[in-house]
Amino acid sequence: MTWLITGGAGYIGAHVVRAMRAAGERAVVYDDLSTGIAARVPAGVPLVVGSTLDGALLARTLADHSVTGVVHLAAKKQVAESVEQPLRYYRENVEGLRTLLSAVADARVPSFVFSSSAAVYGMPDAARDGSPVTEDTPCVPINPYGETKLAGEWLVRATGRAAGLATASLRYFNVAGAAAPDLADAGVTNIVPMVFERLTEGLAPRIFGDDYPTPDGTCVRDYIHVVDLAEAHVAAARQLASAAPGTDLTLNIGRGEGVSVREMIDRINAVTGYGLPPAVTARRPGDPAQVVASADRIAAELGWQARLGVEDMISSAWAGWVREHPGAETAPGEPAPVA
Ligand code: UD1
Repeated sequence: MTWLITGGAGYIGAHVVRAMRAAGERAVVYDDLSTGIAARVPAGVPLVVGSTLDGALLARTLADHSVTGVVHLAAKKQVAESVEQPLRYYRENVEGLRTLLSAVADARVPSFVFSSSAAVYGMPDAARDGSPVTEDTPCVPINPYGETKLAGEWLVRATGRAAGLATASLRYFNVAGAAAPDLADAGVTNIVPMVFERLTEGLAPRIFGDDYPTPDGTCVRDYIHVVDLAEAHVAAARQLASAAPGTDLTLNIGRGEGVSVREMIDRINAVTGYGLPPAVTARRPGDPAQVVASADRIAAELGWQARLGVEDMISSAWAGWVREHPGAETAPGEPAPVA
C-alpha cells in the first residue's frame, strides 16, 4: 500500500515514516514544514510541501501517488498556544482535517489513521484513585488543543461511516525518545527536553507542584517511546487495510505504567550524569494529577504492546540533545573531555 503521512517531517511523523517503510509499505510525506524538517524525510520518500488547508494540492497528491491510506499527524500541538490562539488551532486542526477528509472521501481512499491525544480526556475523574484511563472514560478536554483533537475524532468517525472508510483514532499519551539522534524532538515543550535544558544551563530542574494527590505528590504520567508509538501506527494501518468499510477504532497508546515527575527527573539525572536535585515550584495551571493509559484495548485489537522503557526514552532523547548542544554531555564539575 501507499500511505500518505501528513506531518511526516515532524518528530513523530518521521518515526512513523520509518516504521512504515521498515514494514514494507510505501510512504509519501505531506508537510508544510512549519515545524517539520525536510532532512528528516528519508531518501526515496517523496515530500510534498503544502498545507492541509489546500484541498486542491491534497487531491492532486492523493491521485499522483495512488495513495491507498492516510496517516494524519499534521497539526498544532502546544496546549498553552492553543489557549492563546484558539482560532488558529481550530483552523489548522479541525478545518485542516475536514479539508483532508473531503479529499480522501472524494478519492475513495479506504483507510485513515488519525493522530489524537490523551488531551481529549482532560482531568479524568476516573483516574483520581490511580485507575488507568480506558477509551470509555468520558472525554472532557480542558483546553482548545484537546477540544480540536476530540472534534477531530468525531469528524473522522462520522466521515468514515458516511463515506465507507475504515478509520482509527490513536490517543497518544506522553511521547518521548528517538530512534536516532537526528530524529529527536527539536521542541522544548515537554518534560524530558525541559529538564535537559535546565540541567545543561546548570539550573535545578523544576517540579511543577508536589502537593498533588499522588504517591509522592508529583504528577503521574504514562510515557511512551516514539519508536513503540510508530509501531502502533503500523499495526493500526495494517488492521484498517483489511477491515470492513465503516470500521472505527479508538485506541489509547501508552504503556499502562505511571511514572511520577520526581521519578522522571531522578532518572534523567541518572542517565545524563548531572545529578542536580530538583526544585519544587508552583503548580502549572491545567495539569491533571494522574493520567495513565489502560493499554488493554490496543493489545486485544491489534496485538500491540510497548517494548521500550523510560531509560531508553531518556537515553535516546539525550543523544539527540547532545547532538544539538555540543558539550552538553559534560555535567558541571566533571572534567572536560580531552580534545
Ligand atoms: C502535554 C500536554 C498534553 C499533550 C502531551 C503530549 C499540557 C498541559 N498538556 O502533557 O495535552 O497531549 O503534552 O504532547 O501541556 N513538568 C515539571 N517540570 C518540567 C516540565 C514538566 O514538573 O520542567 C511536569 C508537568 O507539570 C506535568 C508532567 O511534568 O505534570 C509532564 O509534563 P509535559 O511533558 O509537559 O506533558 P503533559 O503536560 O502531561
